[in-house]
Amino acid sequence: MNALDSLAALIQPAQFVGWTCQLDYEKAVVLTSDHWKSRARGVPHNCFLLAAAAPDQSLGEIILLRVSGAAPLPLDDENLRAKIRDLKSRPFPPAETPSDVAAPEDFQFGGLACRVLGTFYWQDGQLRLGSDIESYLHAPHLEVYRPTGAALEAIVNYVSPERAAAAREEARRLGLEGDLPRFPIGTVRYTSTDRLHRGDAGDRAVVHLNAVDFLARRTAVFGMTRTGKSNTVKQLVSVVMRTSRGSGLRIGQVIYDLNGEYANANQQDQGSIAEVFPGDTLRYRMLPTPGFQLILNNFFTQVVEGHTTLKGLIEANKIHRTADMEAFLSMDFSEPQRMEYSSDAEFQRQFGNHQRKIGAYQTMLARAGYELPPNFKITFETNAGIRNKVNPSVDPANGLTATQAFEWFQLARQIQDELITASGADWIDPDTNVLMNLLLQRNDQGTYIPGFRLLQPYKDYHAPTRTSDVCDEIYQHLVAGKIVILDLSVGDPVQRERLGKRIAQHILRHSMATFNSGKHAPHIVIYVEEAHNIIGRNEPLTDIWPTIAKEGAKARLATVYATQEVSSIHPNILSNTENILVSHLNNENEVNELAKYYDFRDFSKSLIRAQNVGFARVKTLSSPFVIPVQIDRFDPEKERQRAGTGR
Ligand SMILES: Nc1ncnc2c1ncn2[C@@H]1O[C@H](COP(=O)(O)OP(=O)(O)OP(=O)(O)O)[C@@H](O)[C@H]1O
Ligand SMILES: [Mg+2]
Repeated sequence: MNALDSLAALIQPAQFVGWTCQLDYEKAVVLTSDHWKSRARGVPHNCFLLAAAAPDQSLGEIILLRVSGAAPLPLDDENLRAKIRDLKSRPFPPAETPSDVAAPEDFQFGGLACRVLGTFYWQDGQLRLGSDIESYLHAPHLEVYRPTGAALEAIVNYVSPERAAAAREEARRLGLEGDLPRFPIGTVRYTSTDRLHRGDAGDRAVVHLNAVDFLARRTAVFGMTRTGKSNTVKQLVSVVMRTSRGSGLRIGQVIYDLNGEYANANQQDQGSIAEVFPGDTLRYRMLPTPGFQLILNNFFTQVVEGHTTLKGLIEANKIHRTADMEAFLSMDFSEPQRMEYSSDAEFQRQFGNHQRKIGAYQTMLARAGYELPPNFKITFETNAGIRNKVNPSVDPANGLTATQAFEWFQLARQIQDELITASGADWIDPDTNVLMNLLLQRNDQGTYIPGFRLLQPYKDYHAPTRTSDVCDEIYQHLVAGKIVILDLSVGDPVQRERLGKRIAQHILRHSMATFNSGKHAPHIVIYVEEAHNIIGRNEPLTDIWPTIAKEGAKARLATVYATQEVSSIHPNILSNTENILVSHLNNENEVNELAKYYDFRDFSKSLIRAQNVGFARVKTLSSPFVIPVQIDRFDPEKERQRAGTGR
């Protein structure tokens, strides 16, 4: 994994930038000069430096440093005075100054403040990096280099032999065979201005991600709007897909796509995940759309779900509602359970009521134009007394068509007084009575009400041909290693949230059940955009999303969450997050929150200052420190080619 075959290969003589003049366990001061700096093509803020003993001495170890700023030197004041004197004595206008007037030698020296990141050494034929300095000498004799190219790649892609062994073991457990899959995601970038250190494309050091870091782990993607979070997520999705294809391991991925950017070819982004992996991607939406499955349920068979959907939709629409409609909205359609009742007889009675209530509701849906599922019959029990009075030739227990059911309720209403006399006041329960009012458009006083008409506008939320629960269908796709995109860009927000949660609950419940039964749960990666809404710091930790983020790893559920605000995420979740990728943040509160983790503090200034798209600071499980990376733009064409060639 580490490209170099010796410690010495890390040192590039042309990249010499100075000497350490001070060193301790935590920090170093490097004496550098303008001449050396320009030879090495500059020393950007936050860049890596390597400090090593002169080659004629034994090269036992190399210290890895990160430039944290300028360091004052004892002669600075004196030099400054001399510089000012020199500048004052220069002729005016400056254009007449000969360009080759060399500045006095002393003026060219300066100090760089650095933080010690660790020590590279060679042991048992392997490159190792300790995360500190074991011992240091006071005599200032370490030469300092700014690594580029292969040396820099070796540093940023360094994985300790222990971590590599653990990852191999993990990969074996996960079912991955062969080499550990890793993929390029970008190139090292230190600063916003990158004329010198990234001037030549061939010189850029490629940063790789290890796929194992992401499976059954948590990953956070932070950054202000339009700084490349979704682009990063797309990169991750394709990394996981390539891992899956390369290793034959099925890894399901589900994307909560709040803006519809993964599902659709969006002109702005020219290409989407769905286009790149057409054979392996399923798209779901809340409204019927060509190329999309309906995320919706069948209102006739998933009665509670359907009713909750209608309730959300009608309540969001602030039109006047009659008392019957209000009563309908607050109804509970869940099936009565035996344990809720003191006797079998009472349970049977409630169960019969429930059936008639569902029958009336389904008839009302049909009346409002909701298409019945193929071969579906409206079915409910009635006692013989009622049946014979309403229509002796029709038994609703054998199933009715929508028209027959409507006629049955119509007849029943016409002879309601008779039925009450025959069967007592509770021949139907109050809920069924309300539903009949809505179905027949008359309230208890016989006055006209719009009734079922209020349901007509929402027909598109019903999926008549769906035979299984949408959650289960999605889960099966994930088990089969597909990418499922839940395009939540359309539809009612309350409904979206509820559906989103239900799907998440379903995934967790089933994967946990598999895990608890001692079997291997399927690999699933869940991507959540706008995560602050979902695993925000105010969410109870017992809620579904925090539970997945906290405990999902056991059941091989990986979570990738993207949001603009670090501070909005529950601290318990953030502290259990193994991978963090962050681009520009616009204020100190956010940066301070992040600075609590790993060595992100080194980037506090640059995160606020550099607003470049895709310029991320990346800490992954495998890498011992944060690496500043320019993430590659997700390139659908390149991905398609890779997908086509199976690489
Ligand atoms: N690494 C990158 N290199 C080049 N262009 C990029 C990169 N990342 C993103 N972009 C482009 O920048 C724009 C914004 O990116 P993206 O949608 O990923 O940002 P975002 O952080 O998800 O924004 P939002 O907060 O609005 O969701 C897109 O047009 C995208 O193609
Ligand atoms: Mg986005």
